[in-house]
Amino acid sequence: MAAHSAQTLLQIKQEGKKFCCLTAYDSTFAGLVDEAGIETLLVGDSLGMVLQGHKDTLPVTVDDMAYHIRCVARAVKNTLVIGDLPFQSYATTEQALKSSAQLMRAGSGMVKLEGGEWLSESVHSLTERGMPVCGHLGLTPQSVNAFGGFKVQGRDQSSADKLIADAIILEQAGASLLVVECIPRELGDKVSRALSIPVIGIGAGPDTDAQVLVLHDMLGLGSHSPRFVRDFMQGADSIQAAIAAYAEAVRNGSFPAQEHCFS
Ligand code: KIV
Repeated sequence: MAAHSAQTLLQIKQEGKKFCCLTAYDSTFAGLVDEAGIETLLVGDSLGMVLQGHKDTLPVTVDDMAYHIRCVARAVKNTLVIGDLPFQSYATTEQALKSSAQLMRAGSGMVKLEGGEWLSESVHSLTERGMPVCGHLGLTPQSVNAFGGFKVQGRDQSSADKLIADAIILEQAGASLLVVECIPRELGDKVSRALSIPVIGIGAGPDTDAQVLVLHDMLGLGSHSPRFVRDFMQGADSIQAAIAAYAEAVRNGSFPAQEHCFS
């Protein structure tokens, strides 16, 4: 099996097929995700909540991310490792270049950052310098304080239009992938159709080009399960079987179902 890259993921979208992404923060889980043939693995700054026990992702540092990316990178062969740039590590283009270089040196194959139009110069500079970028729009958890909580985004026409405009700007700036989080399913569909690059949804309905979940959530380990999560351990006799069931459900379009969607 060939190692995944922005190019192989684009090809999957162009063939009208779906692909999968899961988070992992350590070698053991990363190895399971890789062996299951999951195309992309996100070392998300969700580790601030899942591993470190914080109430949000804001305390996570670039050094934290680099440590977990190194742990993950040792275990993977084929999956594309995406490393999250944490809160305020890309507030300027200069910071974005420095922080991204640290994550790429740690073993990331792509960096992810949260935000729209204001990031266009940084996305351009990163891609020009050989650092592929994944954007992230919708409920961007690093802005939880600006949103007044973890709330569904893009529900009114003007914010939906803004999300589409931001997505197009990120693609034009050179982004290779886009994550959209907690938006109405109709908007997930619209943004995926509007872009040539693959769109990965979480709480964005079944019509995005790919899905991502926090691994601990889909294994039923979270203390609180958001509406868009399915517990794939139910009916599975091992973690490997749960990951395989997730991959199958994403690829055949049965996950997410209507009950996991916002409208
Ligand atoms: O940090 C993370 O794990 C994420 C995903 C939930 C998309 O950004």
